Amino acid sequence: MENIHIVALTDEMKEVLHKNDQKFIAAPMATASKEGVPNVAPMASVWLREEATLWICDNFMVKTLQNLQENPIAAFYF
Ligand SMILES: Cc1cc2nc3c(=O)[nH]c(=O)nc-3n(C[C@H](O)[C@H](O)[C@H](O)COP(=O)(O)O)c2cc1C
Repeated sequence: MENIHIVALTDEMKEVLHKNDQKFIAAPMATASKEGVPNVAPMASVWLREEATLWICDNFMVKTLQNLQENPIAAFYF
């Protein structure tokens, strides 16, 4: 899947993401269909790579993956 670059991450956000690397705390991931219907699913396999790229492991995504393929914008809560 293509990389969608994050616009800006504060140092605090990076710290939380790096802590999550080691603990596998699930973060709610919000996506939306191209019509804008929202969907939220917990994701634990999330890693910060480089300055502004998240890797998210697709183990069990169904609607999440379908939404990302038609609308690549997503949001996380950590
Ligand atoms: C604690 C927790 C962590 C999870 N982490 C992931 C993950 O990293 N990757 C993944 O694909 N699914 C993960 N799942 C499973 C998805 O959240 C779950 O299959 C969900 O129903 C997918 O939603 P969707 O069908 O709306 O995409 C996790 C589930 C839980 C409860």
